[in-house]
Amino acid sequence: MKNNNAGLYIPEHVGIIMDGNGRWAKKRGLPRPVGHTYGAQTFRSITRYISKQGVRILTLYAFSTENWKRPAEEVGAIMKIFRQYLMDALTDFREDDIKVVFIGDRSAFDPKLQELIEETEEIAKDRQGMLLNIAMNYGGRDEILYAVRRLCRDVKDGSLSPEDVTEQDISSRLYTAGLPDPDLIIRTGGEHRLSNFMLFQAAYSEFYSTDTLWPDFKPEDFDKAVLEFNHRNRRFGGV
Ligand code: FPP
Repeated sequence: MKNNNAGLYIPEHVGIIMDGNGRWAKKRGLPRPVGHTYGAQTFRSITRYISKQGVRILTLYAFSTENWKRPAEEVGAIMKIFRQYLMDALTDFREDDIKVVFIGDRSAFDPKLQELIEETEEIAKDRQGMLLNIAMNYGGRDEILYAVRRLCRDVKDGSLSPEDVTEQDISSRLYTAGLPDPDLIIRTGGEHRLSNFMLFQAAYSEFYSTDTLWPDFKPEDFDKAVLEFNHRNRRFGGV
């Protein structure tokens, strides 16, 4: 973990559960998709800000495996925002040298969106700056299932024996294989739950919840979370 110029530890890996777009719009008498449009703007600006703070990995929860249950009109609007956002981000994150990777089951997306996802990853693959993981059609349980299936295959073909399976064998088969677990998970919108986000990786993450709705989340809100993180006493189960 690095220190910033205010002497604070900057978490190496930060996860954010972006919540509150719908309520933000409702408060203003606007349709929910408008909240997502503003949420996408926050996504762009806050990602750039966080990359400048020295965070090495940022994982943002953009669309969960459960979000398909929303009205078709809202899901359609979110997919449209993703497409637009990705096209903009192609140029946007180049300036900040941000590498982009998508985690989750992308096979459920429209083929054109899948192509755009691959293109975005390909363009950014050699960048040396912050790694941005965008969790789309992502679910923590689904991810564990995916890892378990891969493990079972290795057991079946004899490359692994059940007695030798370690935690490391599971984590190395998750979408986040090779990455350190998140140090800090921020949730906007006031709820205090993980909602199926990085269930395996979050075992010892510090959780920070703020009432600020995602479209209103500003650099100062991120700074507050980092300050609070610096006051936590992380014991990882020890004393
Ligand atoms: C959370 O608010 C938002 C979502 C589940 C979906 C979409 C996220 C974005 C548009 C952010 C930007 C992401 C990208 C990749 C551009 P909510 O609708 O659950 O809010 P509510 O709790 O107030 O209803």
